[in-house]
Amino acid sequence: MNDYQDFITKVHRKTGIDLSCYKEAQMKRRLTSLYEKKGFKSFQEFFNVMSTDKDLLDEFLDRMTINVSEFYRNAKRWEVLQKKIIPKLLEKNKQLKVWSAACSTGEEPYTIAMILSHFMPLSQIQILATDLDETVIARAENGIYPDRSLVEVPDDIKRKFFTKDGIFYKVNDDIKRTVTFKKHNLLADPFDNNFDLIVCRNVLIYFTEDAKEVLYRKFSAALKNGGILFVGSTEQIFNPQSFGFETEDTFFYRKV
Ligand SMILES: C[S@@+](CC[C@H](N)C(=O)[O-])C[C@H]1O[C@@H](n2cnc3c(N)ncnc32)[C@H](O)[C@@H]1O
Repeated sequence: MNDYQDFITKVHRKTGIDLSCYKEAQMKRRLTSLYEKKGFKSFQEFFNVMSTDKDLLDEFLDRMTINVSEFYRNAKRWEVLQKKIIPKLLEKNKQLKVWSAACSTGEEPYTIAMILSHFMPLSQIQILATDLDETVIARAENGIYPDRSLVEVPDDIKRKFFTKDGIFYKVNDDIKRTVTFKKHNLLADPFDNNFDLIVCRNVLIYFTEDAKEVLYRKFSAALKNGGILFVGSTEQIFNPQSFGFETEDTFFYRKV
């Protein structure tokens, strides 16, 4: 077994994270640059220290998960969600069960809440938001962001749902209350079901083709008939029918 394969096995055993589901060249490059910076000469040496050093383990996790996010990321797609997808979902159900999977620091589930607020009182909105990385979940629960995270937020929404605090913006408590954050590993943990809408954006690109296919199947099983999977703007599914989906709009797939 080579150095990296051996590392994958040990990390899986220790953390439950299966690096073999992530594109190898990209992941290896990211982790090699981290261990070299730390002065290690191999994955093996890196693992030996990491297995007893919590700070190094956290740094590893931080390096392997790419956490960049933004409110209303790719704003045109969110406009499609608001104008076309949500009204159609609401024709069938008055209450929507929504999951933001791999939510990073929370911009995505909070954006969903802001969009749903056009259709219902905030007290009726309940969004599940999950990520593998506990550090980003803590930041999401905190709900404080630099202004660069808000560049795509419409002005009326900014005024309504954020409070400016120095150079930061705080998400108001009534929006925060609509989202429940949980730790969840998409590649290992069971999925809840009966969702009307699953938003999973900008994480599938890091996974191997095999891992992606498994996930499409699991997302399909987790949706109600007629429910929607919303993926990132580089994550088009080329054969949606094989997973029980039909294309509703670009980057939106309806479970049939
Ligand atoms: C680039 S961010 C995407 C954030 C947000 N969805 C968006 O589009 O702005 C990718 C997130 O995927 C998470 N992630 C990576 N592997 C994961 C896994 N196996 N299960 C759950 N989340 C994972 C990372 O921790 C990171 O927060």
